[in-house]
Amino acid sequence: MDVLDILEVESEVSLPKRYSELSVEEMESRVKEIKNKFGERLFIPGHHYQKDEVIQFADARGDSLKLAQICASMGKAEYIAFCGVHFMAETADMLTRPDQKVILPDLRAGCSMADMADIDQTERGWKKMQDIWGDTILPLTYVNSTAAIKGFVGKNGGACVTSGNADKMLEWAFTQKERILFLPDQHLGRNTAVKLGVKLEEMAVYAPLTNSFEYEGDFEDVKVILWKGHCSVHEKFNIQHVENLRKQEPEMKILVHPECTYDVVQASDLAGSTNFIIETLNAAEPGSKWAIGTEMNLVNRLKDEHPDKTIVSLNPFMCPCLTMNRIDLPHLLWSLEKLEQGEVVNQISVSHEVTKNALLSLERMLERS
Ligand code: 13P
Ligand code: SF4
Repeated sequence: MDVLDILEVESEVSLPKRYSELSVEEMESRVKEIKNKFGERLFIPGHHYQKDEVIQFADARGDSLKLAQICASMGKAEYIAFCGVHFMAETADMLTRPDQKVILPDLRAGCSMADMADIDQTERGWKKMQDIWGDTILPLTYVNSTAAIKGFVGKNGGACVTSGNADKMLEWAFTQKERILFLPDQHLGRNTAVKLGVKLEEMAVYAPLTNSFEYEGDFEDVKVILWKGHCSVHEKFNIQHVENLRKQEPEMKILVHPECTYDVVQASDLAGSTNFIIETLNAAEPGSKWAIGTEMNLVNRLKDEHPDKTIVSLNPFMCPCLTMNRIDLPHLLWSLEKLEQGEVVNQISVSHEVTKNALLSLERMLERS
C-alpha cells in the first residue's frame, strides 16, 4: 500500500471536519432522530466507563459481563453500535448472529491491557509452560483480551472470566486442572486467587517479553501462572493514596476495582467489578463517605447520582481511560449518520476460524454466570 492509498483509507474511516463544527444540541438531536428512525433495528450498549455524552444514548448500560450477556441474547437488532472498547465489540460480534453487524464508533478505542498479550507470545509461553509443567494447566482469560487469545483459551479447554465472575470461574478451573494460567491481567488473577486461598508463593509471573518467569520458589509448587499484564488506568491507584486517605478521612470507606494492585486491594475495604461498585453505592447509607478506585467517568457519574453521599476518587488527580474516552458524541453521530446513508463504518468482524474457538471460552463462562 503506498502513501496515497493509506490517506484514502484514513479519509474513509476518520471523522469528517464538519462534526467539529456542530453544536452539542445539534448532535444530540440528530442521534435521537436516527435512533427513533431505526427503532429496534439499532441497539446501543454502553460500558459504565463511557462518557456521559454517549452513555445517555445507551439502550443498556453494564459491566463487561452484563454487556456480553445482553449481546448473547440480542434478538431484533440488525446493528449494534458498541459504546465501549475494541475487545467488547469483538465479543459482541462473536456472540451475535452473523447477520447482525457490530460497529465501534472510533476504531482507536482499544485497551492497553488487552494489547499486553498477543497470540504469538501466548503460543510461545504456552510451549515453555508445557515443557515445565506438562499437561497440568488450564488457561483462563479475562474478557479484556483479543479474540485470538479467547480462541487459544477455548481450544485448550479454558474459559473467559470477567471481574464480576472471576472467583467462580477460577474455582471451576481448579476442578479441571492442577494449575491455572491467567491472562492478561496479573492483578485480577492474583487478587482472585488469594481470595480462593492460593498463597502468593504459589503464584509465578510469566513475562512475555523475555519469555521467562519471575519466581523464586520450586516450580512444582506453582498453582497459578500470572501473565505480566495490567491496566494502565487502575495501576494509577497506589498504597500511598490509601494511606493518605486513612489519615485524612479515617471514616471514609475505600472501594476499588480488582484490576488495582494486590497491595491496594488488600488495604481497601471492598473490591469488585464496576457493577459491584455501583450496587454497593446504591445500597450505602445517606451521609456515608466513599473513596473509589476506578475509572473517572464512572466516579464522576456516581458523584452526580448520589448527592446524599460523599464520593471522591481514591487518586485525587482522577484516572481516565483514554481509549474508553475515544468514543465521543461526534464519533457516535458520524457512525449513525453513515448507517442512515446505508453505509456501515468501523464494523468489527472476527473471522469464523477464531470465533469458533473463542465462543467455546465465552460459552463456558456464560453458562456458569
Ligand atoms: P468490568 O466492567 O468488568 O468491571 O471491567 C472494567 C474494565 O476495565 C473494562 O475495561
Ligand atoms: Fe483497558 Fe483498563 Fe481502559 Fe478497561 S480501564 S479498557 S482494562 S485500559
